[in-house]
Formats: sequence, C-alpha cells, structure tokens
Amino acid sequence: MRRKLVAGNWKMHGLKAQLGEVEAIAAEAAANPGVDVALCVPFTLIAPAVAVAGGLPIGAQDLHEADKGAHTGCISGAMLRECGATLTIVGHSERRADQHETSHDAWAKAAAARRHGLQVILCCGETDAERDAGRAERIVQSQIEKSLPEGAHGDWLTLAYEPRWAIGTGKTPTLDEIGSIHAIARAKLRTMVGDAAAGIRILYGGSVTGANAADILAVDNVDGALVGGASLTAEKFVPIIRGAA
Ligand code: G3P
Repeated sequence: MRRKLVAGNWKMHGLKAQLGEVEAIAAEAAANPGVDVALCVPFTLIAPAVAVAGGLPIGAQDLHEADKGAHTGCISGAMLRECGATLTIVGHSERRADQHETSHDAWAKAAAARRHGLQVILCCGETDAERDAGRAERIVQSQIEKSLPEGAHGDWLTLAYEPRWAIGTGKTPTLDEIGSIHAIARAKLRTMVGDAAAGIRILYGGSVTGANAADILAVDNVDGALVGGASLTAEKFVPIIRGAA
C-alpha cells in the first residue's frame, strides 16, 4: 500500500521571513500522520527550515551529479545532507528548460542523491507542443527510460508527472488524462524494475490547489502531489494536505 506524499516545491521563493509558514505547515503535517508531507526549499533556506520544521522532511530542488570538485556555484549531495536535507527533486521541467538539463542529467543526479542517502523525487512531463502533437505518452515513457536510476525502489525514489503546460498556469489535464499517463508511467516502471514498480509512488504536479487536490489524489496511480505556488503558504497548502488524508 503506497502512502500519499504531498511535497511542496518552493522554487526560487523563500527568505527567513517565511519560516513561520514552514512551522505552520509542519504543525499540519504532524496533525495528519496518515499522509507524508515534505517541503523542498531553496538551498539557502534548508538549514533554517530544518531548525524550525520539527521533523518535517526538508529537501532541495537540485544537486550536482558529482560528489565534489571544480563546479563553481554548485551544491553536492553531501552538502545537502550536512545542512539537514533528506530529499531532493531532480529533473524538474524548469531546470530542463532554463538550464538545458536532459533526462541523462536527471539520471546522474538521482544516482548522486542516492549515494548520499537522499530521497529522490524524479520529474517527468511533456511540453504543450509535445502534447498537441499527441506525443505526451511517448515523451513520458522515454524520460522514465532515460532517467530512472539503477536500483530504483519506492524506499527512496518517487516519480512526479508534471505536464509542463500545467505548471503555474491554472490549467490541469482532465482526471482521465492524469489517470491514463500515470497508468502508462506505472507500466513503464514495471518493464524496468518489475514488481518493485508497485511500491514506487507517482505524484501529479501542475496547478494543484485546495480546490482540485482531493479529486486528483483519488485517481488511480496518483500517490500524491508535487505542489508549487500553492505550497508557499500554510493557508493554501493545508487544504491540499487535508485532501490527501
Ligand atoms: O514542482 C511543482 C510544480 O512545478 C508545479 O507548480 O505552481 O503549478 O503548482 P504549480
């Protein structure tokens, strides 16, 4: 039985002034022990967030694939662990678009995170042009094939399906469309890792709000949500956590 996971991705938002939101979200997470909750904050906020989170898992949004070296401006898995992160996102579509990251990069980063004992949320999802061309399913299958790290297991790996056209737009696929892609993603996992596929959570991400969370989270093979804008405040995030409970 897969427990639901509701993870917030704060992207490039969050100064110490927002630590009160972390505390309020942590309190709500503690009040809903049947749901896993996590927050992925900017690198600079990881240690301060861990200090107030009372055990709520705090994560990063990226890491470098190397363990150390001459990589100006980059952060390693060991650095994330040292400041208290327990998980990280890799392969987010904003990094694919803005930093030209590929599925191979996501694969290498997921492996690096694993080496350092971090939980991994591995993202996939098609663009609007790919969707319009009827290629969404093939893109998601191909991204999973190229980015799934060796030894993928639900104990440390979560997949997140985030159609790029739904991110921050207020647009979401229909529930049938979400169910269909998640079923395809599950089948792809099965061909790659066999029975272990049943234990890997698949989150949906893209314009999840308190108003649509419960419906989306009730779809087959949707094991939680990766939430951007609506995770920035407890007021908006709490109804999503409750929707998963
Ligand atoms: O990683 C979460 C994300 O990309 C979705 O963002 O703002 O549409 O919830 P948002």
